[in-house]
Amino acid sequence: MDSNNLIINLTDISFSYPGSPKVLDNLDLQLSRYDKVGLIGPNGSGKTTLFHIIMGLLKPLSGKIEIFGKTAKEEKDFISVRRKIGLLFQDADDQLFSPTVLEDVAFGPLNLGRSRDEAVDIARKTLDFLDLGEFEDRLTYKLSGGEKRLVSLATVLAMEPETLLLDEPTTGLDEKTKTKIKKTLCELDLSYILISHDLDLLFEITDSIYTIKNGKIIVDDKVHLHQHTHAHPHGLYSHKHK
Ligand SMILES: Nc1ncnc2c1ncn2[C@@H]1O[C@H](COP(=O)(O)OP(=O)(O)OP(=O)(O)O)[C@@H](O)[C@H]1O
Ligand SMILES: [Mg+2]
Repeated sequence: MDSNNLIINLTDISFSYPGSPKVLDNLDLQLSRYDKVGLIGPNGSGKTTLFHIIMGLLKPLSGKIEIFGKTAKEEKDFISVRRKIGLLFQDADDQLFSPTVLEDVAFGPLNLGRSRDEAVDIARKTLDFLDLGEFEDRLTYKLSGGEKRLVSLATVLAMEPETLLLDEPTTGLDEKTKTKIKKTLCELDLSYILISHDLDLLFEITDSIYTIKNGKIIVDDKVHLHQHTHAHPHGLYSHKHK
């Protein structure tokens, strides 16, 4: 692996919530520039926890976090991490907190030191890029689940991150909206780790799959993604894909 291109380098990370068994147990993870990685694992296996560790929202019990070649340990180290890595939260309500869509999307650039006018300009361009231009005056708390998901993605992209951590970005979305997110990710050409239970999606927009099991990342050569052909001759009846 070319260490100059290493964006995320976790070594021996262990973590447990207070009073609970270990969620992450001596976990190693590497993400390099241009990598598009899918992350799978059962419910409760620690996928979201892992993202929160990378962003410095949770502190590991032990282990080393290196981001863009720099060790990140204290809260101050994670300030620059959060400028470079954009996290799309699993729950959009954790992401959105401003009254209107425009304010929410402008918040990130403002926080990064842009002027009010610049931040609004970036926010408008990002919303347009996602075909959400008409949403700017909408109240965020009144958006539908799928709309919140898209606006959340806009808040992340408006910060012009170098890498994305996407926690189930398409869960609960209709096919059209899902396609929009897929297209956006392809167009942006950023590296990312994408958590999803949707193997068809991972087949389309990732290059490799990591599995989280017993608190560790397994790069399983046996996980060969293949695409299903969804002709569905049996319509509503349950059926198996070969
Ligand atoms: N704030 C918390 N306090 C205590 N335990 C927690 C907390 N958040 C998560 N957990 C527990 O930690 C484990 C890992 O949770 P996590 O949310 O990381 O799983 P996940 O792989 O993202 O699951 P899912 O696929 O359901 O989103 C679970 O057993 C969960 O119940
Ligand atoms: Mg999760």
